[in-house]
Amino acid sequence: MNWERRLYLAAHPLAYPLLRGAARRGPAVRVPGVGVVVNDASAARAVLMDGETFRKDGPGSPGDLWTPVLGPSVLLNMEGEAHRALRRRLTELFTPSSTEELCARVLAEPLARLRDRLARGATVDLVAFSRVVAGTVIGEVIGLDVRDEADVRALFERGERIAATVSLRTRRLSPSQVARAREVLDPLGGIAARSYAAGDESTVMGRMRALGLAPDEARGAAAAFFLTGTETVATLIPRLVALLADSGTLGRVAADPGGLLDRAIEEAMRVATPTPVMLRSVHRAAEVGGVAVRPGDRILIATHNCCQADGAFDLDRSHPPELRRLWFGAGPHFCIGYPLAMAEIRLVARTLLAAAPLRITRRAAARGVLIPTYRRLAVRTERAPA
Ligand code: HEM
Repeated sequence: MNWERRLYLAAHPLAYPLLRGAARRGPAVRVPGVGVVVNDASAARAVLMDGETFRKDGPGSPGDLWTPVLGPSVLLNMEGEAHRALRRRLTELFTPSSTEELCARVLAEPLARLRDRLARGATVDLVAFSRVVAGTVIGEVIGLDVRDEADVRALFERGERIAATVSLRTRRLSPSQVARAREVLDPLGGIAARSYAAGDESTVMGRMRALGLAPDEARGAAAAFFLTGTETVATLIPRLVALLADSGTLGRVAADPGGLLDRAIEEAMRVATPTPVMLRSVHRAAEVGGVAVRPGDRILIATHNCCQADGAFDLDRSHPPELRRLWFGAGPHFCIGYPLAMAEIRLVARTLLAAAPLRITRRAAARGVLIPTYRRLAVRTERAPA
């Protein structure tokens, strides 16, 4: 069994076989207790592009899950003009050049340490390292002082605790889950609010203020970035390295990162799908992948199934138009953190590839997590010491 499948089974021993089983039943299938499961990339894209019929706000929508914790206006539970207006203002926050600059600055030290350890022939756990990377970047975004690695680790663990309360079937958080999530997020909201109030435009929170966001909007955006932008990136990095090593293509990418690295990252995203499902609620009658849906129906886009239809990791695979970056969504809710995620992953991958050939010396799958990943992935270089 390949390692990606093992990771999914370790994270979701019961739900994963059911999810994959649904893929065999056609482009879309109604599953009692879950909703209409979409397994086909074209059908999924059609749902994502139609933000009027398939929504993330209102009664019975996925927004129900997060609104009690995050408040009513945090992008991922908004639709229509209010959503468009907030997005327009926020899109300027994460451009390819600003995210590259931010990541190069805050990751310079952790990456130098990584380079050093590899050069000394030490074994490095990429799971622990990727948590530091993702925590450092999101910490910087929300205005935390990210120089202390212990603080960054604690920040990452907070996010994990919230994510672990949600399963693939969760529709609503219980009052105690809401209370626990708030306990975790409130101090972060406080940090973000102070950074916003300081108004320094060289910081992301300061720029939000300059872009005209109200304090509550900025606080909500910070919480949303923290929830969506930490574990996704941290889990992808070790999985990318493992997929390259297992497919025997790590050396090829290391020899030509300029030409092959982005393709390798997107193909690893396709296979791993760090966000394996997306949710919508139906607001008017329609058809999805041949299944008639009614207002109030819940749609579960099985991004993972849509992406698995193309087969195992293959560096030379080109992605058909309907699949293009589906792992980051499509349409009005397309991942706003896409440039930030790519900038982080590229920097870490380049540092690791510069130490190629790499050997995976130990690995184990994580259990009890929402996003499948390794519990440990230890690597070291096989390059002779200089
Ligand atoms: C490997 C990394 C990542 C993956 C695979 C990923 C995936 C996704 C997907 C699939 C969506 C759309 C969900 C839907 O339509 O229901 C999304 C939305 C979003 N992502 Fe990401 N994401 C990643 C990293 C990040 C980062 C680093 C940030 C931090 C800024 C971020 C912030 C967001 C936000 C705020 C939304 C909601 C946008 C909206 O509703 O308008 N993501 N992401």
